[in-house]
Amino acid sequence: MSQNPSLRERVRSIPDYPKPGIIFRDITTLLQDPAGFRETVDLLVAPFEASAVDKVVGVEARGFIIGGAVAHQLHAGFVPARKMGKLPWETVSAEYDLEYGTDAIQIHTDCIARGERVLLVDDLIATGGSAGAALDLIEQVGGSVVGCSFVIDLPDLGGSAQLRERGYAVSSLIEFE
Ligand code: HPA
Repeated sequence: MSQNPSLRERVRSIPDYPKPGIIFRDITTLLQDPAGFRETVDLLVAPFEASAVDKVVGVEARGFIIGGAVAHQLHAGFVPARKMGKLPWETVSAEYDLEYGTDAIQIHTDCIARGERVLLVDDLIATGGSAGAALDLIEQVGGSVVGCSFVIDLPDLGGSAQLRERGYAVSSLIEFE
């Protein structure tokens, strides 16, 4: 949360992107900073170090960057949750709502063994659509979710609250209104 001013000030805020009225929180400036990237990964990992995580699931595309580093640090495997049509093997899919229309993500059916302990990671949680869909998929293939970890939470959009209502442990490093 906003207890990380040194991370917060490394996120670039771009007004009116991608549309008028939206302030886009750009994490590329955080990731390109060697100390910023390391601190981000260390802080994401800390709450789950004793959780015996078997697999980290990262959501395409920025979740891959964060999730790979988190998985490495937790000595866990990495599982990509990808946009439709990108994974070559048998998949399960879940749809989620966008502002206009729907989108869907997929994981491989054999990416998580029944009972494995899974941490979901993404760069940012807004309305929680893609995170909620990823959690559905993890449970559909038999994974046990130990929590969800995000760099940025936009709490006004309600996604993190919804995930907590569903019973998940949610942690984030920075909040923006
Ligand atoms: N940054 C990146 N992704 C996003 C944002 C943002 O501010 N809002 C919703 N998705």
